[in-house]
Amino acid sequence: MTLEEAEIAILDLYCERAQIKDGQSVLDLGCGLGALTLHTAQKYRNCHVAGVTNSMEQMDYIEKQRKLLQLSNVDIVLADITIHEMVVTFDRIMVVGLLVPIDEDDWYTEYVFPAGSFIIPSASFLLNFQSLTKKFVIIINGTIHN
Ligand SMILES: C[S@@+](CC[C@H](N)C(=O)[O-])C[C@H]1O[C@@H](n2cnc3c(N)ncnc32)[C@H](O)[C@@H]1O
Repeated sequence: MTLEEAEIAILDLYCERAQIKDGQSVLDLGCGLGALTLHTAQKYRNCHVAGVTNSMEQMDYIEKQRKLLQLSNVDIVLADITIHEMVVTFDRIMVVGLLVPIDEDDWYTEYVFPAGSFIIPSASFLLNFQSLTKKFVIIINGTIHN
């Protein structure tokens, strides 16, 4: 397997574990350079995919890629998610690799784990933790997949 094939395989796995279906609204929180955002939008053309980042450089990069790929189902939001209040809800929210940069003030405990969070409401939630001891752990609606 090449590196590119491995990257696509993990992005496909995220979508599968998040149970993405065409037509859903999807939020990629802390979207980095947009790999998962753009992959999801390409794979599921009737999904509307929003990516949130606090980096202007990342947003500009993703926007260029979005144009190259001629995707009209992607929106990138420049915001600090610890203070940004979502005005829309999503069918799926995916969070990959955002734990370390964001958890200084225990943001997850305050906004994500309590039932009925109003900040990022979604029917289902995929959260990917990475650590040195485990490759990844994904939680959907309280179910842990190793
Ligand atoms: C480690 S990167 C993970 C990127 C991507 N999800 C991936 O797996 O490749 C963390 C991302 O979260 C964003 N981020 C960190 N703190 C944030 C905040 N407070 N609000 C919004 N985005 C934030 C960073 O700009 C970056 O895009």
